Amino acid sequence: MTRVLVLNGPNLGRLGVREPEVYGSATLADLTAAAAGWGAELGLEVEVRQTDDEAELVGWLHEAVDTRSHVVLNPAAFTHYSYALRDAAAQVTEGGLVLVEVHLSNPLAREAFRHVSVIGPVATGTVAGFGFQSYELALRAVAARS
Ligand code: DQA
Repeated sequence: MTRVLVLNGPNLGRLGVREPEVYGSATLADLTAAAAGWGAELGLEVEVRQTDDEAELVGWLHEAVDTRSHVVLNPAAFTHYSYALRDAAAQVTEGGLVLVEVHLSNPLAREAFRHVSVIGPVATGTVAGFGFQSYELALRAVAARS
């Protein structure tokens, strides 16, 4: 079965309590449950993870390459400045795997520092601005390409 790691960066473990007017009131556990449902529907083996640690996120991208897993990645604030994460993400797509960058909000409609993504240029594609549905659309894109 096609394997997909759904990786979430810093502060996304605080979903539900963090700026609900921006990110909604549902939690990471709710996202995990929803992703399991989308995975079942799409025939994907989906695993959702979250970390506040850049090194751990880089390690998970290396794991995706080594285990031939596609990736749905919400890099959170790392989106805007982490060249380490960008270099790791590039290894995923260079390895012929799909990596979809996702965001709950639309960073282009927010503060100027969020307008730059260092991940976008090495991603297969980006889905932003649709809340949890950004993840659903990303998983559908992975399913269509694998
Ligand atoms: C985010 C957008 C980022 O700018 C922010 O730092 C996040 C969440 C989103 O999902 O909308 O933590 O990636």
